[in-house]
Amino acid sequence: MKFSEEFEARFAEMVPHYPTKRSALVPTLLYAQDEVGFLSDEVIAELAGRLDLTELEVRNVISYYSMLTTKPRGKFNLQVCTNISCLVRGGEEILQHCAKKLGVGHKGTTPDGLFTLEEVECIGACSWAPAAQVNYDFHENLTTEKMDRVLDKCLAQAQEQLQRIKSVDSLADTLSQRSEG
Ligand code: FES
Repeated sequence: MKFSEEFEARFAEMVPHYPTKRSALVPTLLYAQDEVGFLSDEVIAELAGRLDLTELEVRNVISYYSMLTTKPRGKFNLQVCTNISCLVRGGEEILQHCAKKLGVGHKGTTPDGLFTLEEVECIGACSWAPAAQVNYDFHENLTTEKMDRVLDKCLAQAQEQLQRIKSVDSLADTLSQRSEG
């Protein structure tokens, strides 16, 4: 399979920094997931070959980390912690609030493909519980109001990107019409 030039450059730069090829597995999986959207069978086979691992070894590592996924998910992966510190500080309420607002349950993705919701174990932010993670960003000391603001910001970001794509498309149309005329 073919990755982008950027991925290949990162991969080539990163692997020699580790004592063995297999040690580069987790960061490589993260880069691949960022690029493809999820860790497909094809990605797993490719990375196993490159890092001298079996596909089963790669899958075992993927299953250990909640931020890695073998299934497509939304643009914003919302992980709400309900482990003990978060639980006693309202983590369950945050999770239920998100589920109601997005209309999906655990591991569900909204029909527009924007959000996937996940209930997760400790994400290492216990001192600032309750906590949640959206992609690589942490959000701490959450309240339902604060969570709403986080979701609104994601929506605004998605709309801004969509607008940019539409502008590029319309510019491309204009240019092609001019060149035809
Ligand atoms: S228990 Fe929620 S971040 Fe640790």
